Amino acid sequence: MEIDIEKKCKSRLETTFMGVKLQNPVMTGSGCFAFGLEYMDYFNPNKLGAIITKGLTLEMRKGNNGIRIAETPAGILNSVGLENPGIDYFEKHILPEMNKYLNIPIVGNINGKFIEEYVELTKRLDKIEKIKILELNISCPNVKDGGMAFGANPEIARKVTGEVRKVTKKPLMVKLSPNVTNIVEIAKIAESEGADGISMINTLLGMSIDVKTRKAVLGNIYGGLSGPAVKPIALRMIHQVSQTVSIPILGMGGISNTEDAIEFFLAGASAISLGTAFFPNPMVALEVIEGLEEYCKNEKLNNISEIIGYAHSDNGIDYRKKLKLRK
Ligand SMILES: Cc1cc2nc3c(=O)[nH]c(=O)nc-3n(C[C@H](O)[C@H](O)[C@H](O)COP(=O)(O)O)c2cc1C
Repeated sequence: MEIDIEKKCKSRLETTFMGVKLQNPVMTGSGCFAFGLEYMDYFNPNKLGAIITKGLTLEMRKGNNGIRIAETPAGILNSVGLENPGIDYFEKHILPEMNKYLNIPIVGNINGKFIEEYVELTKRLDKIEKIKILELNISCPNVKDGGMAFGANPEIARKVTGEVRKVTKKPLMVKLSPNVTNIVEIAKIAESEGADGISMINTLLGMSIDVKTRKAVLGNIYGGLSGPAVKPIALRMIHQVSQTVSIPILGMGGISNTEDAIEFFLAGASAISLGTAFFPNPMVALEVIEGLEEYCKNEKLNNISEIIGYAHSDNGIDYRKKLKLRK
């Protein structure tokens, strides 16, 4: 019997992430791809595995004042401060456009200043058919209230995850902050409160100073570091977390090319997302998708998921078994 090589190649990136079928495991990091329509002049976003929206809040937010982005030698610092149009505007004006042009799963990124806000927003997003996965951002370092404080405090992380879990049946992933002493502890809490997945990592708190003015560059003084500089930290944390949970991880933090992406799968990620890398190279996601296909072909893998956690001491056998059992 002849094997249809083309067909086989196409299916090598197909995956199921938290119960949602994806044509490939490559997503866009929240805040780095807006609502998926802004890049249409460069490429068809329907080639991606999924799109994660900019962080949404109940009310419209203007974000932080002053300079909001500073370049660093291997990444950027941002203090955007969750600027977004709010859920009403999103539903009325952006969602219809997304419905028109996007036919891949959409991940809704949820933020709040109080637990009640997280819950309210979750209820609103739960009703939207187009949104297949919810991402609970308890890790934004650029907002004064809420944000990172939720993800850095184990008890608040427990409460917000548990409360949100009660009001939605959609697959829920919790986005973790790297600005903690023990990320494994927070990941385990999220899992025990009913999270279906973990996304990690958000940005690392940093600072840049202008030697001429002798003052902080960013209006908000501190900002979140992302890009190649944070990759080793993200890999280490994913490697640690994937050895202690049995839910899938969406890995991100400094992925700029195919090789970076492969490292994340080997560390324990089941899917990956690209953020800062879009800014210098809007085509990066397509390059990574093609690169991963090529890698599977060259390494004679039937599916990219065969290498999840391979950098663990048992070559990832235990973790992959747990992931399979959950499906
Ligand atoms: C400009 C900018 C805005 C971001 N906005 C959000 C956001 O609204 N919600 C969120 O969960 N993460 C946000 N992030 C974090 C990214 O989604 C991602 O976790 C982080 O940048 C690490 O990945 P990267 O190095 O590939 O960019 C933002 C990052 C950047 C650079």
